[in-house]
Amino acid sequence: SAQKLAATPPMGWNSWNYFAGRVTDKDIRDTADLLVSTGMRDAGYVYVNIDDTWEGKRDAQGHITTNEKFPDMKALADYVHSKGLKLGIYSSPGDQTCARFEGSLGHEYQDAQTYADWGIDYLKYDLCGFRKKMLADAPNDPVKQNKMMRDAYMLMHKAIVKTGRPMVYSLCQYGFDAVWDWAPEVGANLWRTTGDINATFDRMTVIGLNQDGLEKFAGPGHWNDPDMLEVGNGKLTLDENRFHMTLWAMLASPLLAGNDLTKMTPEVASILMNKQVLAIDQDPAGHQGKRIYQEGPVQIWSRELADGSTALAVFNTGEDASSMRNIALPLKQLGFSKPPMATDVWTNKPVGRLDASYKPTIPRHASILLKLTK
Ligand code: GLA
Repeated sequence: SAQKLAATPPMGWNSWNYFAGRVTDKDIRDTADLLVSTGMRDAGYVYVNIDDTWEGKRDAQGHITTNEKFPDMKALADYVHSKGLKLGIYSSPGDQTCARFEGSLGHEYQDAQTYADWGIDYLKYDLCGFRKKMLADAPNDPVKQNKMMRDAYMLMHKAIVKTGRPMVYSLCQYGFDAVWDWAPEVGANLWRTTGDINATFDRMTVIGLNQDGLEKFAGPGHWNDPDMLEVGNGKLTLDENRFHMTLWAMLASPLLAGNDLTKMTPEVASILMNKQVLAIDQDPAGHQGKRIYQEGPVQIWSRELADGSTALAVFNTGEDASSMRNIALPLKQLGFSKPPMATDVWTNKPVGRLDASYKPTIPRHASILLKLTK
């Protein structure tokens, strides 16, 4: 069932954020090898997901084939499985994917069966071509368009179920029609809540910090997806990469790394694999965090954890360092009648009791992540 499949937010790697349309079979094999040798697999990153541009044409019987970049998908799946990893793939309910490759429209049952035969464990299903169809078939009728969209997502869910092979089902339609309200009903384990992320601090924070309010829709088996990680991509600094990871962990977000593992620095590896940070993301209670304070560039978010403790994150989105001199931590609001004990999550070092003397200065684009106990 969906519950068992994604009891905690799915973790793995996806080809799009770094390789985009250039991804090849070799990149996926290299990534699988590196997920093992870097320790990422053992830290929880088990899904290796091929995004758009693997698709070939359909054969005479309508079966989807791979293009020249992926000579043998079954052999690739066997390889990935032999490493103790799982393989994900990508399609669209439309006639075309976002990168204008072959979509699944009219071939849903056939495609799901092909994926199952190959040994696929995860499907990202991206609206793209289907949006054109909605607009063409039901012009100026958003209610009908939305029904078409839900039906299309339900259809692929049924097709997956019919194969008998468990596959994580990832909806990608950028949050249209308040997807969080209905995604679990069409079997989704996760659903994108926004348009695409990119490897800039601005885009990452616009997406991540706008997730407030969606927390009630997340839980074991079904998660909001603010898009894949850009940690290690572009020109993100150490503090920005940490900010990204801190925020995604507070959001109980799926963690799909999107960097080139063949060039991963030790610094980036330590950010992606910080045990305590991952434990917050993967907390079994699955309560997504929410914003509890915002003033100027400083935001404070909290997240209740299964063991009764609270994760508290402080973010500085500003271009200058921000002092917490004039900020009173809203501890009463979090249920602490006395100053709580705090641990710094990134360093795993005790901070002591959080009393009035706790007034750290947070560098530009940096964050603090604490675990608070009574
Ligand atoms: C859309 C999705 C991205 C990626 C591309 C592939 O933009 O949102 O995550 O899958 O399509 O074409």
